[in-house]
Amino acid sequence: MTVPAVPILSEDPADKVVRHGAILSAELQARRQQMYPPDARKNLRFFMTHEVSKLTSIPESTLRTLSIEGKGPVPARLENNHRAYTLGQVHELRELFAQMKPSEALRFLPRRRPGEPLQILSIANFKGGSAKTTTSAHLAHYLALAGLRVLAIDLDPQASLSAMFGFQPELDVGHNETIYATLRYDEARRPMREIIRPTYFTGIDIVPGNIEVMEYEHETPRSLAGGANGSQSGSQTVFFERLRLAIAEVEDDYDIVLLDTPPSLGFLTLGAIYASTGLLVTVHPAMLDVMSMSQFLLMMGDLIGVVREAGAGLSQNFLRYLITRHDPNDQSQVHVVAMLRSLFGEDVLLPTAVESTAIETAGLAKRTLYELEPGNIGASTVKRARESMDAVNQHILDLITQSWGRA
Ligand SMILES: Nc1ncnc2c1ncn2[C@@H]1O[C@H](COP(=O)(O)OP(=O)(O)OP(=O)(O)O)[C@@H](O)[C@H]1O
Ligand SMILES: [Mg+2]
Repeated sequence: MTVPAVPILSEDPADKVVRHGAILSAELQARRQQMYPPDARKNLRFFMTHEVSKLTSIPESTLRTLSIEGKGPVPARLENNHRAYTLGQVHELRELFAQMKPSEALRFLPRRRPGEPLQILSIANFKGGSAKTTTSAHLAHYLALAGLRVLAIDLDPQASLSAMFGFQPELDVGHNETIYATLRYDEARRPMREIIRPTYFTGIDIVPGNIEVMEYEHETPRSLAGGANGSQSGSQTVFFERLRLAIAEVEDDYDIVLLDTPPSLGFLTLGAIYASTGLLVTVHPAMLDVMSMSQFLLMMGDLIGVVREAGAGLSQNFLRYLITRHDPNDQSQVHVVAMLRSLFGEDVLLPTAVESTAIETAGLAKRTLYELEPGNIGASTVKRARESMDAVNQHILDLITQSWGRA
């Protein structure tokens, strides 16, 4: 389609909307192509000895000795002869040391043990742009780097989380390949294991999303009304239990499941909340966002009431608010944060995710801060943003390990 660049005099406003839509969309598409070409394949950087040591708590000297003695995974050598490990090799080192030192196994390999239940965490808020996806992606990467087995499920038809993991929703995700495939009410329903995909970020699997996810919002009311599908396979399970049951099919394979939800409170989001053992509500500290969150909480309360009336219980260990895109120098934000803390106390996470060009720029290239090589963006900007994200993610990891009853 050709887009006239020069404005047409006396153009009808309706035509103008269409023309402007096309101009803007073409421009954005061009910029996206530049930042992230469609044929780009994601791969993960290497980790240097000092990083591996920090991640695994194996001393640098031990790693070097191991490598010299030819034991354990063989790291690549960079031009400067420095050792460079893949994330898969970092995981191998964890397993090796857990075997060698059984009394300290948990320190090297913090996976959940028998009796420690799978943690399912929803990142939710129906305010668009509250950093749900950015939070989900950073958390997933952080947990995988910590040695945990993560399943990320993209419940958003916009599928931005899938895109962060290198799955372009319109190209790489086909018919019946999203979470809808396992939730649907008809015969085409698929087992969860069939729709899970490994990612380039070793230790994280994903159920990608695309627009098809929306089907669930259309099909559920039909099923509730006892429509034509009434007698078909799997249709007996009530809508809010379906996601929980789908996750239960693969429970043993993971430590943590992260659910990135859409900016709406539909059947999928409700299913996510019902399935969750923990709920993280992301909130940008601006008055409009807080007003929207208030609506979200009231509506969620109503819906939870409906679920309870149906005789189903929720089993959440925690609900926390995470302040996102936080600018501590913005006075109006300072007031909003103070208000939230005075109202909700410790339920507002102490660490906040600071607003940072490093996070935004990395996001445009579909990356988290954890993927950046030194020198990608101004070092001090990245450092400050990393410290903020690390503090947030460590706090969430602490909540998870507390749920496991660990000290
Ligand atoms: N801490 C941050 N600093 C700077 N930019 C950020 C930060 N967190 C998120 N962003 C940017 O804000 C935008 C919205 O973030 P994100 O997509 O994570 O929000 P969302 O809640 O998932 O949105 P949606 O409701 O559409 O799913 C993105 O461009 C992202 O890069
Ligand atoms: Mg999102």
